[in-house]
Formats: sequence, structure tokens, C-alpha cells
Amino acid sequence: MSTNNIDFDNLTFTFTKTRSMYVTKCKQGDNWNSGELVPYGNISISPASTVLNYGQGLFEGMKAYKTEGGRILLFRPEKNAERAAMGCTRLSMPEVPKNVFLEAVKTVVKDNSDYIPPTEKGALYIRPIVFGSAEGLGVAPSTEYTFMVYCSPVGPYFKGGLTPIKLIVSTQYHRAPLKGTGGVKAIGNYVPGMLPSGNAKKEGFAEIIYLDAAEEKYVEEVGAANFFAVIDGKIITPELTGSILPGITRDSVMHIAKEKLGLDVEERRISIDEAMTAEEVFCAGTAAIISPIGSIKYNHKEHIFSNGDVGPITRELYDILTGIQYGNDRDSFGWILEL
Ligand code: PLP
Ligand code: COI
Repeated sequence: MSTNNIDFDNLTFTFTKTRSMYVTKCKQGDNWNSGELVPYGNISISPASTVLNYGQGLFEGMKAYKTEGGRILLFRPEKNAERAAMGCTRLSMPEVPKNVFLEAVKTVVKDNSDYIPPTEKGALYIRPIVFGSAEGLGVAPSTEYTFMVYCSPVGPYFKGGLTPIKLIVSTQYHRAPLKGTGGVKAIGNYVPGMLPSGNAKKEGFAEIIYLDAAEEKYVEEVGAANFFAVIDGKIITPELTGSILPGITRDSVMHIAKEKLGLDVEERRISIDEAMTAEEVFCAGTAAIISPIGSIKYNHKEHIFSNGDVGPITRELYDILTGIQYGNDRDSFGWILEL
């Protein structure tokens, strides 16, 4: 799609085709090499590929931001490279080396830089994907892998950006068990959430909150973002047990809370009952940014945290995080990679 047809003032989290994408392949046992930029378009793949049959694949989600002066910034891209590499190991795929990953991301962003929304109107969402692309009938790793990067201009994941969202706790479904693949961005982690999340949306909720699969008591995360509660002025977020995705925004929020706001931060189990006592609750992720949670429904009771206002700590964290991402604030953490 030509950039002339994009309404940058009203972006949502939906897919828009851009000019180009990056692709490289690797045979099992070989090393990944740099690939090439090709026009954005469909790819051809065997119906017997391990990704289509057994879900052998992962994705990453990251963003490129445009500053007021038109500079282009990536936010902590090496963290996405590290997480993708961990995920590759978990899913029996050859790790994409950091330099290949970062080069691909930078190449795609540069070639599609006119698709990056103007400052603070959104961002260019970048999707690196790695998957088993050769045939395999038995349940075993593929003999060939493909690494691609595509992108799309986006607005906030939840409608209304900083408008507090309504969530519901899932009592019927879990996202991920302990010792499974919840801690990596396996593609197979996302489809099980479509049914509960679709049902929740029909009832007017923006998303689901998942509880731990073992005791059904502790908050894990929101379908596509990590969970935070402000209790007695402290920032609490569920500790990483292996079933929760180690969010890069989560890590950034913890640093900002500790080092910029001087708040105590606790990574620990938080029961859903305790979460209901919080002064403020929010979720955080690349797509979700920082989204205030206005209410949570659990076991037929709805707890209201906000009638539309954004809590003061949530607001401060949002302002500092997005200030760094859009280049308005000094990057004292060294998180920004300028292109
Ligand atoms: N949890 C899940 C399940 C996610 O898919 C994401 C998004 O990547 C997050 C949390 C937040 O992670 P990040 O901040 O790295 O985007
Ligand atoms: C992201 O925040 O980048 C994610 O991957 C969430 C996505 C599933 C929409």
C-alpha cells in the first residue's frame, strides 16, 4: 500500500502492507547467513512443513519510532534478538545470531522508513519470524529454517490508547503451564487464547487475565502483555516462572520505576485476590505499550479500579517510557539504537 493511503492520524493495531521484507534460510547444521530484502508478498511453503503441521516457529514484536526531528529509533532491539535466540533453542531451531537478526531488522526499517508514523502517532511494528520450512512427517525438527522480517505501521493495541481497559479473569482456560513454552514467543502459545479472548470481547472486555495453571490463584499475564499492580505505592509484577513471557517492556517498566521514580519493585507471586486490592493496575508490552486497567471481572464480580482516569504512577511510567521511545527524553539507560 502506498503511504499516501495510510491514515496516520487514526492508526489501530491492524496490518498494513509495506514495501519490503527480509528473508534468509538455513539448513539444519549450517550457520545462518545474511539474507536479502525482497518486495513484500506471499511466500510459498510445503504443506508438509514443520511449521504448518507442528507449530515449529516463533515470532518477535518490536517497534521503530520517529522523533519530532525525523530521526529513527529502535527500542532495545538486542533484547528481542536474545529472546528469539532463547526461543529457537526451546523450539529445536538453530539460533539466529544477534548480528544477523539486528541487520535484518535495520535493513527492513530503513527500506520502509516512510511507513513509520509521525512522532507520537504510532510506530512501525516489526515482526521477525523464524520457522521450520522443510517437510517432515514424523514429529521431529525441520531440516531447513526460514528467518523473515516484515513490518506494519500501527497504533495502540487496545482501542483508545491510554483509556483504561476492562479485563476478565479466565477461569476456564490457561495460557501456558509450568515447564511448557509460555516463556518464549512460540507461535503455538497464541492460538489457544483466541477462543477465550474472542468470547471475552463479545462480552465487552478488551482481553483476558490468565491465572497460573497449577493453582489457579496467581496472576500470570494478560493475553499479549505483562501484568503490573501498584500496592501501597510499590510496583508488583508476577515473577518469571517459565510460563510467563519475559517482556522487554516489563523489564523497562521495572527499571524506570526503580531508577527514575525511586519506587520499590517486587517480582513475586500475586494472587488475583491481592491484585484486586491494588491502587492501580496496568499491563505492558510492545504492542500494548502501557495500558491502564480500569476494571477486572473475576468469578462474577467486577472490581472497578478507575472510572476513566489514569492512575498517577501508570501515567508517569507511560510518559517516561514513551518519552524515551520517541526520543523526547534523554536515554539515560542506553536503550535506544538510532538508525
Ligand atoms: N506477554 C505476551 C504473551 C506477549 O505476547 C507479549 C508481547 O510480546 C508480552 C507479554 C510483552 O512483551 P514485550 O514487552 O517484550 O513486548
Ligand atoms: C507484542 O507486544 O509485540 C506482541 O507480540 C503482542 C502481540 C501478540 C499482539
